[in-house]
Amino acid sequence: MSRENKQAAQAMGPLSAPACTLHITWKELLLTASLLIFWNPPTTAQVTIEAQPTKVSEGKDVLLLVHNLPQNLTGYIWYKGQKTDLHLYVTSYVKDTETVIAGPAYSGRETVYSNASLLIQNVTQKDTGSYTIEITKQGDRTEGETGHYTLYLETPKPYISSSNLSPREAMETVILSCDPDTRDVSYLWWINGQSLPISHKLQLSKTNRTLIIFGVTNDTAGPYECEMKNPVSSSRSDPVTLNLLPELPKPYITSNNFNPMENKNVVVLTCEPKTQNYTYVWWVNDQSLPVSSRLKQPGENRILILANVTRNDTGPYECEIRDRFGSIFSDPVTLDVLYGPDFPRIFPPCTYYHSGENLTLYCFADSNPPAEYSWTIDGKLQQSGHKLSILQITTEHSGLYGCSARNSATGREVSTFKKIEVSAPSGIGHLSWA
Ligand SMILES: *[C@@H]1O[C@H](CO)[C@@H](O)[C@H](O)[C@H]1NC(C)=O
Ligand SMILES: *[C@@H]1O[C@H](CO)[C@@H](O)[C@H](O)[C@H]1NC(C)=O
Ligand SMILES: *[C@@H]1O[C@H](CO)[C@@H](O)[C@H](O)[C@H]1NC(C)=O
Ligand SMILES: *[C@@H]1O[C@H](CO)[C@@H](O)[C@H](O)[C@H]1NC(C)=O
Ligand SMILES: *[C@@H]1O[C@H](CO)[C@@H](O)[C@H](O)[C@H]1NC(C)=O
Ligand SMILES: *[C@@H]1O[C@H](CO)[C@@H](O)[C@H](O)[C@H]1NC(C)=O
Ligand SMILES: *[C@@H]1O[C@H](CO)[C@@H](O)[C@H](O)[C@H]1NC(C)=O
Ligand SMILES: *[C@@H]1O[C@H](CO)[C@@H](O)[C@H](O)[C@H]1NC(C)=O
Ligand SMILES: *[C@@H]1O[C@H](CO)[C@@H](O)[C@H](O)[C@H]1NC(C)=O
Repeated sequence: MSRENKQAAQAMGPLSAPACTLHITWKELLLTASLLIFWNPPTTAQVTIEAQPTKVSEGKDVLLLVHNLPQNLTGYIWYKGQKTDLHLYVTSYVKDTETVIAGPAYSGRETVYSNASLLIQNVTQKDTGSYTIEITKQGDRTEGETGHYTLYLETPKPYISSSNLSPREAMETVILSCDPDTRDVSYLWWINGQSLPISHKLQLSKTNRTLIIFGVTNDTAGPYECEMKNPVSSSRSDPVTLNLLPELPKPYITSNNFNPMENKNVVVLTCEPKTQNYTYVWWVNDQSLPVSSRLKQPGENRILILANVTRNDTGPYECEIRDRFGSIFSDPVTLDVLYGPDFPRIFPPCTYYHSGENLTLYCFADSNPPAEYSWTIDGKLQQSGHKLSILQITTEHSGLYGCSARNSATGREVSTFKKIEVSAPSGIGHLSWA
């Protein structure tokens, strides 16, 4: 581009800006247009830069070839960046003296040739980005002509890293990342060979380099592929499929007998379902099963045998299944242990009463289900119920009182007796606390 053309181009510059910022008259516009047409020699082409090879990977060399150099030039300066800024000055070549001068941005791996081309050896990630060549010409001390190039490296083959390759179905969050972390590339993801669907279960990071999968299910298990892309190349990872661990099934307890009789029945509790892959743990009253010779656990703890069950074995029982990754509990079950009645007791304990007093006795025997009670005096049946009440007793009511407790479920019946003496009304009676 000639100097005049450059000025014309600068004058034209504002044309690309929004209309409201234009401060140019029609006259000026026509003038610039005519300048452009008049001063634009068709032979003058712009400086272009080409990389050889077009695709370069890290550690290799690349040559930036400069085409369409103007005539009568005095030298070149290469800058690492988009601007002709001194800090970005890499190296320069002065034609007259054939000297090369290194600048602040020189890494030691750049070589400028007399034909302006720049060789960069052993390319690194840091070498990617913009390059500017400034060409100085005879008599042109203000501004040289410039050319730009953006260097991209060939993208390496990416690979997918996962925070967890074996998530539990529907429960775990997995973070996939596309590695290595590379400059100036964009990342793309595929699932099942398709671009990612819009889903609240899938979330990309700002850079798209990491993908978060919430509650992985078999439709989000993959296969996943990631791609790195820049204007010169793109590369795809191998596919990665998450190995979904099935949800643990919720276990449940079965029993041969939920209503065992104390000291009589053997209770067999079984944790279902049966599988090879889990371990079983039993819990009684929220404590893991105490070690006891009474409690037998054949096999892999899936079956719990309560030999000679007692009322203290009522429970609740829970079973837990575990694998390497987690565990899940059954609902609790409680045994309804049938027992008793135990030996009954009569209250209150006093034996001596005055005539005219009210006699009230209570009988209690521990039993499941609760005992049925009946009362006798001297062997004669009086009434049923745990309470015996006789108003205004007389000496006639002296005798041997019996309480009988019966449990129809266990078939057991137990009796206890108590002697009651009632003193005559005229005499002075006394209370005796037995
Ligand atoms: C310039 O010089 C380099 C090094 O000698 C050479 O490889 C390249 O082909 C030359 N040509 C152009 C157009 O830069
Ligand atoms: C280059 O310089 C020579 C002499 O200095 C001049 O005659 C010629 O016109 C110039 N060419 C261009 C394209 O500027
Ligand atoms: C390229 O750079 C690496 C590390 O920066 C270095 O180990 C290697 O020797 C270099 N190779 C050449 C040919 O300069
Ligand atoms: C991330 O990917 C989406 C499409 O999946 C795209 O629209 C967006 O521009 C990408 N963001 C970046 C920073 O590459
Ligand atoms: C997902 O699971 C369902 C039910 O278990 C099954 O029918 C379906 O085929 C699975 N889909 C895939 C992609 O594996
Ligand atoms: C069960 O308990 C009763 C009473 O404690 C005892 O007599 C009996 O021997 C026990 N039976 C077994 C199998 O332990
Ligand atoms: C148990 O694990 C093996 C391998 O770990 C698997 O092939 C099998 O399907 C599993 N069985 C069940 C019932 O989950
Ligand atoms: C039940 O447990 C209590 C307290 O541990 C104990 O005193 C009682 O003897 C036990 N009863 C039976 C039937 O094992
Ligand atoms: C006996 O019971 C009757 C009826 O409940 C009551 O009226 C009376 O006062 C009681 N007698 C004594 C001595 O408590």
